[in-house]
Amino acid sequence: LNRRVAIIGAGTIGRGWAVAFAAAGWDVRIHDASPGQALAAPATVQDMLRDLLGAGLLASEALAGVKPVMVCDTLEDAVCGADWVQECVAEDVSIKAEVFVQIEKHVLPDTILASSSSAIVASKFASDLASRHRVLVAHPANPAHVIPIVELVPAPFTDPGMIEHAAMLLRGIGKKPVVLSREVEGFLFNRLQGAVLREAYWLFEQGLATMADIDEVVKNGLATRWSLVGPFETSDLNYRGGLKEHGRRMAPAYARMGRQSGSANQWPQELIDRAHAARRELLAEQDWAARADWRDRTLMKLFRFRAALEDEDQPTWKDA
Ligand SMILES: NC(=O)c1ccc[n+]([C@@H]2O[C@H](COP(=O)([O-])OP(=O)(O)OC[C@H]3O[C@@H](n4cnc5c(N)ncnc54)[C@H](O)[C@@H]3O)[C@@H](O)[C@H]2O)c1
Repeated sequence: LNRRVAIIGAGTIGRGWAVAFAAAGWDVRIHDASPGQALAAPATVQDMLRDLLGAGLLASEALAGVKPVMVCDTLEDAVCGADWVQECVAEDVSIKAEVFVQIEKHVLPDTILASSSSAIVASKFASDLASRHRVLVAHPANPAHVIPIVELVPAPFTDPGMIEHAAMLLRGIGKKPVVLSREVEGFLFNRLQGAVLREAYWLFEQGLATMADIDEVVKNGLATRWSLVGPFETSDLNYRGGLKEHGRRMAPAYARMGRQSGSANQWPQELIDRAHAARRELLAEQDWAARADWRDRTLMKLFRFRAALEDEDQPTWKDA
């Protein structure tokens, strides 16, 4: 293994992946169809690495081992000799399909070909490739250099060995991969996010609370708890008797709520416009980028704290 990764697309997610691989000592090559984007990437990557160092998520010895990100003018230069190709171009079936055709032409025969796709499944853009058995989705969350989760989604044609190999390499760079058994639009992350967002839009549309208060319930309640125990474990721990008792007491109410807000509700443009205006009152357009930076740096502190918690001795409940 050369520990060389090619990042195709140097936008938000491409840069995040570049940082994640570079921090683990990988050799990172980056290419973008827009040369300006690629040329700007190394400096951003340096800033992001420095932020990770400042947050205690990257050791100074590790920073010393980081190799400079190489900008490649052509896709071919980026992917040749790579062990891993991470496609990070726009969320568009035809753009992704074309990029994979190009990748396939120039890459080594056993390279992992991963897409950062947020919702599009690989069989929509990789079915016709000769090397489709090594194509998979590796979906990160934004900011990709901070949040450890990566969803690995096999297409029907993906070799299961590739998924295992990808999971192992991702763990090696400090990621926490989860593996889906098969394709579904939106995977786990965005389906769960979508369920909460649909309900949030409905509550906002109904005028049941301000947008700020709806976000507040998640920030200072649900999400803080979810950062330790997920929705299943939360419900299991909320009732003596576990999920069985939770279901007995709460399932009918949740079914009524789902029917009331409509689990398949849509967001008409007028509603989206109104919600957008409400957000801009809370956060002015000119403050948007600074707020996103604040989110990234604060998330780093949170993950540093979580890592410290995980280092503490934890009983293994399974054996109890
Ligand atoms: N932003 C997020 O929150 C997020 C999270 C997870 C996954 N994703 C997914 O990651 C992918 C990239 O998203 P992003 O937010 O980084 O987008 P972005 O717009 O910031 O970056 C995309 C980059 O791809 C480049 N590009 C377009 N066509 C290209 C081509 N043919 N060859 C090379 N480069 C090309 C563009 O110039 C641009 O720099 C998408 O599939 C997106 O859905 C995004």
